[in-house]
Amino acid sequence: MNKHTILVVDDNRTNLQIVRDVLEKNYTLLLANSGERALKFIQKRKPDLILLDLMMPGMDGKETFREIRKEPENTGIPVIFLTANQDEEAEVECLALGASDFITKPIVPQILERRISNTIALEELQKHLQQKIDEKTQEIKTLALQSIYAIVHTLEAKDDVTRGHSVRVAGFSRALAVEMGLDDTKVEQVYQTALLHDVGKIGIPDAILKKKGQLTEEEFTIIKQHTTIGADILSTISTMDFLQQGARYHHERYDGRGYPMGLSGEQIPLIGRIIAVADVYDALISERQYKNAMEKYSARDQLLKNSGSQFDPEVLRCFIRLLDSGVLDEIEKL
Ligand SMILES: [Fe+2]
Repeated sequence: MNKHTILVVDDNRTNLQIVRDVLEKNYTLLLANSGERALKFIQKRKPDLILLDLMMPGMDGKETFREIRKEPENTGIPVIFLTANQDEEAEVECLALGASDFITKPIVPQILERRISNTIALEELQKHLQQKIDEKTQEIKTLALQSIYAIVHTLEAKDDVTRGHSVRVAGFSRALAVEMGLDDTKVEQVYQTALLHDVGKIGIPDAILKKKGQLTEEEFTIIKQHTTIGADILSTISTMDFLQQGARYHHERYDGRGYPMGLSGEQIPLIGRIIAVADVYDALISERQYKNAMEKYSARDQLLKNSGSQFDPEVLRCFIRLLDSGVLDEIEKL
């Protein structure tokens, strides 16, 4: 195993010699006799721990510590202060600054060794735990996305006519969320939510869902229920409570004449206003049992005719910008 590297900073030559005698067998040592030199060392090589004398001429220990911590990449390096015996006030101050520990002088070899090995062990444990947390977080994210895809496939197994619809709507919605400047977390939420916007169709009878020709008023009332059925299904995933919003709000209209709640304007959560545009665009450019696919620029005109009535004008403006830039072309092929 590689030896850990310790940077020892002390203006007193005798102290440096004592520390070297105690530690050089088990550690790689970098010795600095001033705060200024210590900073230069750190720029070249990051130690695993810094042993820092508090009382030094020129730049003292506290100032050196603050300078070290100014660099974000140095914040993880544990620092142990060397303090004069009985100086409790200084010790409290060092710990408050963020030091890992302090050792009082005169140095007792066994205490020095033990404190250093404990601090390094603790630091390694923290790093290891953080790594495990990161791995598990990634696993959970992957599991969530795989579960969402499994639900989408379940829907498509029932409703093969709209195969690919959910994935395309999710792709358009994600691109739109990025274009609108949402942060990465929100963008991912929009994507996952859009994938599941039509999941409530699972609860709609095939005879209505796959009917060729005009729906009766009663049938249309039943079709509309896919919004609330979807929201109810998704509300069981309480750790991702944003998921149900797509299902519930994607048929609301900006002018308040949509369903199921008849909300208007910004009463409709943004995620719903985004998916609404993506959903209609995909429906327009796709073939259905009752209609042919519309050409891209006719669909563009159709959307613009409904700006401010069906769609949030600002959301639509961003979508049109994306459409015109060609960014959506690849998603359309999914
Ligand atoms: Fe829908």
